[in-house]
Amino acid sequence: LSPRLRGCNIYFIGMMGCGKSAVGDAIARRMGTYNFLDTDIILERAAGMTIPQIFESEGEDSFRDAEAKVLDSVHAHVRCVVSTGGGMVLRNQNWSKLQTGLVVYLKVEPEVIMKRIEGTDRPLLQTPDPLSRLKELMAERKQKYEQADVTVEVHESMDVAGAADAVIRAL
Ligand code: S3P
Repeated sequence: LSPRLRGCNIYFIGMMGCGKSAVGDAIARRMGTYNFLDTDIILERAAGMTIPQIFESEGEDSFRDAEAKVLDSVHAHVRCVVSTGGGMVLRNQNWSKLQTGLVVYLKVEPEVIMKRIEGTDRPLLQTPDPLSRLKELMAERKQKYEQADVTVEVHESMDVAGAADAVIRAL
């Protein structure tokens, strides 16, 4: 275990479909003493609705408020690997929580993301040209994602174990 961690949380950030949850879970298992948490799942359980349902019934702003509250509660725990929703980086207030831990950005090419999220319901990509929309979102968020402590590039050929290896090497 890297000494720079000192028991602090590891927050995964990055676009939808970049593997934050799968890789985060694998990292928590490998580290042994860390628990895995996923802010999207916590939010869905608390709301009793799926994320697309929350977007539809309450809108994005309200979703972002709820997401920030989940981060507040998660940040009170130690020794967690946390997968955050792709838009968690958008609000500056969330960064004061993220920066109490080690922030890891999983960087994946938009074309690879499109293949990975095929068939899943993504409220922000409900447009005739989802790849262009995804690229726009990535461009808007680039600066935020790049505030991470560590950036790990995940290539198309890498599976979850391979991406987890790359993260462990970078920690
Ligand atoms: C979002 C990403 C999703 C989810 C919501 C909004 C975003 O999470 O929070 O649909 O703004 O990029 P994942 O990144 O876990 O898919």
